[in-house]
Amino acid sequence: MVATITMPRLLQIGGGALGEVGSLLARLGIKRPLIVTDRFMESSGLLAKLTDRLDQAKVKWRVYADTVPDPTDTVVEAGAKFLAEGDHDGLLALGGGSPIDTAKAISVLAANGGKMRDYKVPNEIPKAGLPLVAIPTTAGTGSEVTRFTVITDTERDEKMLIMGLACCPAAAIVDYELTLSKPWRLTADTGIDSLTHAIEAYVSKRASPFTDGVARSAMALIARNLRTACREPDNRKAREAMMLGSMQAGMAFSNSSVCLVHGMSRPIGAFFHVPHGLSNAMLLPEITAFSAPAALERYADCARAMGIAAEGEGNQSAVARLLDELRGLNADLRVPTPKDYGIDEKRYRELMPTMASQALASGSPGNNPRVPTAEEIVELYGRVYA
Ligand SMILES: [Fe+2]
Repeated sequence: MVATITMPRLLQIGGGALGEVGSLLARLGIKRPLIVTDRFMESSGLLAKLTDRLDQAKVKWRVYADTVPDPTDTVVEAGAKFLAEGDHDGLLALGGGSPIDTAKAISVLAANGGKMRDYKVPNEIPKAGLPLVAIPTTAGTGSEVTRFTVITDTERDEKMLIMGLACCPAAAIVDYELTLSKPWRLTADTGIDSLTHAIEAYVSKRASPFTDGVARSAMALIARNLRTACREPDNRKAREAMMLGSMQAGMAFSNSSVCLVHGMSRPIGAFFHVPHGLSNAMLLPEITAFSAPAALERYADCARAMGIAAEGEGNQSAVARLLDELRGLNADLRVPTPKDYGIDEKRYRELMPTMASQALASGSPGNNPRVPTAEEIVELYGRVYA
């Protein structure tokens, strides 16, 4: 099997890496970037930290700060319009997955025209747009290194997966110091998201020896540090490990794939506005229990990589430990069920067939070690509601 690996051209990794933004832009030949970010980055002072550096490096910039959680096609269109009004030669995304995903989509739309849904998987993106430098402030979606963006189609209430080389950032600045102030809930949600990326990349039918290596490393880092990062927000070692782990998990799933958890998670997010990491967390233990019999050894490897099963331990027992750990993690990180989250049961059950067909259409369940039917997905949605 020949694996195709897509990655940014340049990664600047480590505490204080943000300070090197000027020289990084110079190396890429970017002189007039549009910064894509959100209002929180503006009010928290992180944006000013970036623009101070840019001013020192005599880089001309403008800011589009109207990105929203679960980025929408309308916000992307407005961003592309704003981009066209200036004279820009690159994009600089600052924030969590949402500003980074928005910046990717703006780059795609500005270069290719039309509507965002024209580029929904399995459609191709004809042209790559302006180069993007991603600066994540969460650990994380891994979006800084992936060739995906997820944009909500506001007319159809659908989270669309958009994928291709055109969505891969040219460079990323991966500075864990930007995550030191991240609140508990956000640390937990984005951390479980990245653990899900690593596990799904590893068990996916599209896994390769390259993605296996980064996925295992990611699982080891995340599983050993997530609880500490939540409990001790200023623990630099834990934050650094989480940042590195989430980036490696991003490399793993971008070049392998996500699977059934993400496939089922996107519709929950689209219809009920549950944050992405949280809807993954609601699903992860149950979907792992459903999928594990089809790839016992792979899931057992996950338990070993996470340090919860011994190297010599049998697969069945290692997988049992994995399920215990995922349930325990949800309990420790106070992950609610859809019911406890306040999702209306009648509407949830009515929407289950629609959510199942959207999940299947995204293609992600097809990469799962156990490929479910639409009926099985409906049944799984029912089981996790609680
Ligand atoms: Fe994710």
